[in-house]
Amino acid sequence: MLHERSRPPAHAAPPRPPAPKPRERPLGTLGLLRALRTNPLLTWTRAHYEEPFLSGSTILGDLCVVNDSAAIRHVLVDNASNYRKDALQLRLLGPGLAHGLLTADGEEWRIQRRALAPLFTPRTVARFRPAMADSAAWLVTRLRRQREGRQIDIAAEFSRVTLDVLERTIFPEGLGRDPTQFIEAVTRYFDTAGRIEPFDILGFPDWVPRPGRGRAAPALAFFAQAVEGIIENRRKSLEAGGKSLQAEHSDLLTLLMGAADPQTGRGLGESEIRANILTFIGAGHETTANALTWSIYLLATHPAWRRRAEEEVDTLAEGETAHLDPDRLPVTRAVIDEALRLYPPAASLSREAIGSDRLAGHRIRAGARVVISPWLLHRHRRLWTDPDLFDPTRFLPGNRDRIDRYAYLPFGAGPRVCIGASFALQEATIILAEVLRHVRLDAVPGHVPEPVQRVTLRPRGGMPVILRHR
Ligand code: HEM
Repeated sequence: MLHERSRPPAHAAPPRPPAPKPRERPLGTLGLLRALRTNPLLTWTRAHYEEPFLSGSTILGDLCVVNDSAAIRHVLVDNASNYRKDALQLRLLGPGLAHGLLTADGEEWRIQRRALAPLFTPRTVARFRPAMADSAAWLVTRLRRQREGRQIDIAAEFSRVTLDVLERTIFPEGLGRDPTQFIEAVTRYFDTAGRIEPFDILGFPDWVPRPGRGRAAPALAFFAQAVEGIIENRRKSLEAGGKSLQAEHSDLLTLLMGAADPQTGRGLGESEIRANILTFIGAGHETTANALTWSIYLLATHPAWRRRAEEEVDTLAEGETAHLDPDRLPVTRAVIDEALRLYPPAASLSREAIGSDRLAGHRIRAGARVVISPWLLHRHRRLWTDPDLFDPTRFLPGNRDRIDRYAYLPFGAGPRVCIGASFALQEATIILAEVLRHVRLDAVPGHVPEPVQRVTLRPRGGMPVILRHR
């Protein structure tokens, strides 16, 4: 099998975090098509983990994989206007996110980014701490109700809690629907939208039906209706109250409805608001849930680090996380940063060159696809010491400043950097701290999770753990 199975812990040595074994040779066309559909991580060869730059002609067209800091900076920052998000990535995110911040391009993107930036300033994000702590408390209560020794799927629990955070911060009056139905629709949509179909790879036009893609349509219709209902209710309540948007509510929906480009004063239209709500859910829910899931797995398999993290969070008073600056928990933060290194939820970023260019001494033709893969970059032999080992020391204060900015890209970089990065890190720290304070989640003996890339990087089939009370 392709997976390096971790050896049983004969002595104290913790197991190696699971990852597909690099291939010795590239896959042929059929193998590549199959791997792209089932798990794109299986396509990487040893050279991808060792070389700064690889290029070639593939079924995806001219493609280069860049692991060189200066070249990455060139693509994402210095010459970013020459590199747009590529068609395959946009198609993967599906029609629901079209014209939201993640997929918009050119002037449409610029206007939205300027209008939405104030929603994610450190001050605004800090205001969401109590809501995040409430979600964390809700999760802890659910977990503590379970019988000691029970096996649970912590990936599903984190998926629920990160959606709960978005619900509390975007629409605190509730979704107006059964939350389970909403979660199912979210899961179904991103599961089907996020599958790379051979037709997409071969560049078939959009009107050619994709097998399986039809299943996303009912979920999308469900969302559109739900979100429209929520916006409509909010408008009515604001009009009836006659108060200013800001004064009445301080949630993301109100901020979105009042958002305006500071340069032109242009606000967002109804369809842009809808696309961005779905974008925040799509971009912010599974990503953060996966960061938490892998953090728990890595701590469960590295007891010395779990003890350090528990000691840190045990110093907190009850309810303190509702007002806590996450930087005050350096060990917990370092664990999350290291989990984001080993298992970056956005495992691959790709761009298409608009005009020809030069990268790391190589000529790039117009139309070539440039892949910057945080998965590869974070495990690259030239950029990290012991890249496959879990070692949060790298991110403790004093050490993290030594990390090359373009060797660590869980949130991307440049103008298209994740707008929700500090929201996500604050949320993950609060939730992880509360979970560690109240329960202990042990690895299931013999179970080795398999990382799969499907829009986000997640463990195939969830993450079973054994629950113990603390
Ligand atoms: C651990 C959690 C998260 C990770 C790892 C993550 C990762 C990323 C990455 C890598 C990008 C850049 C994509 C590219 O350059 O092609 C991105 C963009 C984006 N993210 Fe996140 N994200 C996370 C959480 C969130 C949250 C919580 C939100 C919102 C509530 C969010 C909203 C967005 C949006 C709207 C964009 C597009 C920004 C633009 O193009 O201007 N993300 N994210």
